[in-house]
Amino acid sequence: MSPRPPTPLVAGNWKMNTTVGEGLELARALRDALDGSGVEVELLPPFPHLVGVRGVLQGSSLLLGAQDCYAEDKGAFTGEVSPAMLAGLCDDVLLGHSERRHILGESDELIARKLLAARRHHLRVILAVGETEAERLADTTMAVVDRQLRSALEGLEGVADGELVIAYEPVWAIGTGRTATPAQAEEVCVHIVTRLDQLLGEVASSVPVLYGGSVTAGNAAELFAESHINGALVGGASLKVDAFTTIVRAAEAASSASAGSR
Ligand code: PGA
Repeated sequence: MSPRPPTPLVAGNWKMNTTVGEGLELARALRDALDGSGVEVELLPPFPHLVGVRGVLQGSSLLLGAQDCYAEDKGAFTGEVSPAMLAGLCDDVLLGHSERRHILGESDELIARKLLAARRHHLRVILAVGETEAERLADTTMAVVDRQLRSALEGLEGVADGELVIAYEPVWAIGTGRTATPAQAEEVCVHIVTRLDQLLGEVASSVPVLYGGSVTAGNAAELFAESHINGALVGGASLKVDAFTTIVRAAEAASSASAGSR
């Protein structure tokens, strides 16, 4: 059976924000606003919130993801969280976010090991890739994205439909209010799709490619109008119910428009 086209996904990366109480309140409000959406909607709260938010989302269509995991199943790794602990609790795990690459010093090699570990525990991986401003100015954006994709995906065998999502997040656009233009984002997402074809084969056509970096209620619709952008990884705006809801509605509208044109 050939893979299905990607289902759009709007994922809210809360980063290191909200107390547990605030997080549960936010999750309830988002569940009430977004349950039954025509696209996939996912919350990625901090680790201490996961069990409580799972309870809030029970019985709704919203997915739950973790912001990271470690590369081993268990052992003497103080402070780390294993994918075995997330299995059954979370649907997805975000790996390779630029804040982990650049603030916490994660290497391509560590991210590749984390990806293998997450797969062992049947977590769908949202792999984030993207260039810094200096890399864009040096005209190396595509080379950087290629390196990040190749190092993470080359060792994977038999990737199946529903196991992987890619998030293209230019580092210079994250948390800065400087969104990539739709044309800039589309250009890199097209490149990513081509590389995925080479690295993964047929299943590549079912892998959603998201854009992330200062996505707001005001710019989401024009980004989703691009044909290779299948949703968004949203940071700051995912902490605001109205803004996140507007972004999800924009993804729903884009998805029905493209279904209509097929
Ligand atoms: P931002 O973050 O929307 O606040 O720019 C996006 C992300 O880091 O995933």
